[in-house]
Amino acid sequence: MKLFLDTADTQEIRRAMRWGVVDGVTTNPTHVAKTGRSPAELYPEICRLVSGPVSLETMGADRDRIIAEGRQLARIAENVVVKVPITREGLAAVRQLSAEKIKTNVTTTFSPLQALLAAKCGATYVSPFVGRLDAVGHLGMEIVRQIRRIYDNYGFQTQVLVAAVRHPTHVLEAALAGADVCTLALPVLEQLYDHPLTDLGIDTFLNDWKKVPQAADGQLSSQQAACGANAP
Ligand code: E4P
Repeated sequence: MKLFLDTADTQEIRRAMRWGVVDGVTTNPTHVAKTGRSPAELYPEICRLVSGPVSLETMGADRDRIIAEGRQLARIAENVVVKVPITREGLAAVRQLSAEKIKTNVTTTFSPLQALLAAKCGATYVSPFVGRLDAVGHLGMEIVRQIRRIYDNYGFQTQVLVAAVRHPTHVLEAALAGADVCTLALPVLEQLYDHPLTDLGIDTFLNDWKKVPQAADGQLSSQQAACGANAP
């Protein structure tokens, strides 16, 4: 499962890209507003920082306006994915953008039938918002499982991108459900690394290492020196 970072904050993107596990970025109007920067300045920078797909959202309401915006966004960089809200006009635009080989991410998706329509229009990604569904008493991940099944039943190539993720269990469930991508805020990504037993294990090893006799001149132990000698 690919992991995308859900943000428009370039500092967060820089920080997470160093870790080598982030495959792409999803932005949305809320993320962009938080940066206080203009899209004209911000979007090219994000696309340079990330080698994988970067979703940038269209704001138009009608098909032609969305298509025009989508073409404009796609010109920013090769890795742009045009994010389009799931409306009648939005999906009509996705159909045309797909025909032009422009990648799309159908967003604000809350039902498997919406996802079926997105796939029929050739969307590259569909983004079910699981956390927002959970927040109103639905089982967000059940929608993901249903979308996965529908896509597998008919061989749709649209990738399932689990969004509005609130905690590591959402990531686990997404992976178990066979989602193609999960997009996460930086704090959730950080949580994936952490485990109290890892901290305890490292502390124990560090303490025990202090009891290992070291060469007086500060040279590596013979075992480590051998590992170093074998290093490429
Ligand atoms: C996904 O592409 C969206 O940007 C995002 O996951 C929306 O989630 P929110 O409910 O945290 O705003």
